[in-house]
Amino acid sequence: MSGGKPGAGSVGGTGEATGLTETLTVEPLTAALSERVLRLEVTPAQSRFVASNSASLEDYRAEPDLRPFAILADGAVVGFAMYEESPDDDGTIEFNIFRLMIDRRHQGRGYGRRALEMLIARLLADPRPRRITTCFVPGNEVARRMYASLGFVETEVDEDGEIIAELVARLSGRRG
Ligand SMILES: CC(C)(COP(=O)(O)OP(=O)(O)OC[C@H]1O[C@@H](n2cnc3c(N)ncnc32)[C@H](O)[C@@H]1OP(=O)(O)O)[C@@H](O)C(=O)NCCC(=O)NCCS
Repeated sequence: MSGGKPGAGSVGGTGEATGLTETLTVEPLTAALSERVLRLEVTPAQSRFVASNSASLEDYRAEPDLRPFAILADGAVVGFAMYEESPDDDGTIEFNIFRLMIDRRHQGRGYGRRALEMLIARLLADPRPRRITTCFVPGNEVARRMYASLGFVETEVDEDGEIIAELVARLSGRRG
């Protein structure tokens, strides 16, 4: 990842929106962060909603265009997310955010929502014409509600049966 690309550099801030005081940062993955990300896990019931981080890191090794991030709260690695950057036929870049997870021991503290907001802010800052999408497994109501509350609108079901949703609210009038 090179400077100036949306994958470069960390983003962060405190959690004024939720009343939390931890400093949350979303940092491009490094070798050292990878080791810590591999220790994170979701609950057994959630394992059908997201691939393991070890599978995601394997995907990244095979597809360097993926942009993986560690999510840190006060310096502790608490989560993982990545996005894929792909050009659409009309020259628009599609950023697909996926594999978001917060370790089961750290869930329910606002980290998932805040990390997602930070990633979205990073992608909105990209000056190129772009679309921001996400995907989630049907039945993942926590993810569905969280994405909807951030302005994602469900658009289709992909070939794997996952629901695709696109961020529309905060993009109107700002594309291109
Ligand atoms: C989805 C996930 C990332 C959310 O992370 P989190 O840090 O626990 O979520 P937050 O604390 O930021 O809460 C986000 C919203 O979800 C709600 N929520 C979180 N956990 C919940 C639960 N177990 N049941 C019901 N609602 C829940 C919160 O109330 C909050 O809603 P609000 O903003 O309207 O108050 C996390 O639950 C997770 O890792 N799940 C397994 C993997 C997964 O499903 N990833 C999504 C892949 S697309």
